[in-house]
Amino acid sequence: MNKHALCWLNEKIIPAHQASISVFDHGLLYGDGIFEGLRFYSNKVFQLEAHLQRLQESADAISLKIPLSQDQIRQAIQQIIQQYPQDSGYLRLVITRGIGSLGIDPLKCPQANLFIIADELAVINTTHIDQGIKLLVASTRRMPAECLDPKIKSLNYLNNILSRIEANKAGMDEALMLNTRGFVTEGTVDNIFIIKDQQLITPSPSDGLLLGITRDVILQIAKQLGLTTKEISMTPDYLLQADECFLTGTGAELIPVKQINQHQITTTQKPLFPDIAKAFNQTVINYCQN
Ligand SMILES: Cc1ncc(COP(=O)(O)O)c(C=O)c1O
Repeated sequence: MNKHALCWLNEKIIPAHQASISVFDHGLLYGDGIFEGLRFYSNKVFQLEAHLQRLQESADAISLKIPLSQDQIRQAIQQIIQQYPQDSGYLRLVITRGIGSLGIDPLKCPQANLFIIADELAVINTTHIDQGIKLLVASTRRMPAECLDPKIKSLNYLNNILSRIEANKAGMDEALMLNTRGFVTEGTVDNIFIIKDQQLITPSPSDGLLLGITRDVILQIAKQLGLTTKEISMTPDYLLQADECFLTGTGAELIPVKQINQHQITTTQKPLFPDIAKAFNQTVINYCQN
């Protein structure tokens, strides 16, 4: 937490280190809740409406009544951005089931709890991010939709965290999760793309992944750049044949990958990632300065 981090809670904005929620909040006790991660640049949230829509879909999927209207959420976001000392940063919007007595039943919680943190976020702990990171294909599998649909952005990240622990222990920067059928899904907090034979390829939503908003933006940008895009099932072996590889996410933004397990990702062609990254930055600037 940075000392200037803020938190919107119960209609007030306070220093984040002073904000607290009850030990009886079911978000804490049972991971019963949802969240969105948003980024703002030049005081404007990138893709705000897409995030609000996904928030609503996550809430509906777990039968959670959001305690504020969408307009009230937009206002709260605006207020916290205005008070934040920098014009760009990261927002974490969390909605928990709220306070209830012990016991898993959501009916014990009459009122959901909503708070928003404004802070900085670096999802990968390396200073050499531009040179590419090292990705470990984790043995922990992504939860299948039959157990917990990965499209729900819920407070249950333990299987992602277990994957990340594997990566940490192996001295790698981030983990990649396969589904229970052995196909590539996504990173622990990001989606994955490869470039192979001048085509931009990413796992199919049917393989069980969070439908990243940045993923969507990248697919659109690729089409504008005239690249062929494909959403397909990929084995780890297929992934290793990539000419280039990168991760996308609101927190991650765009992160090039230079190594998967012990395999170096290299290409003899002119790399396409720099053009995609440049177009992404320009898209963010155009969006947030209008
Ligand atoms: C598991 C997972 N996948 C992908 C993403 C990327 O999604 P987005 O681009 O909407 O931030 C995230 C973002 O937090 C995530 O947690």
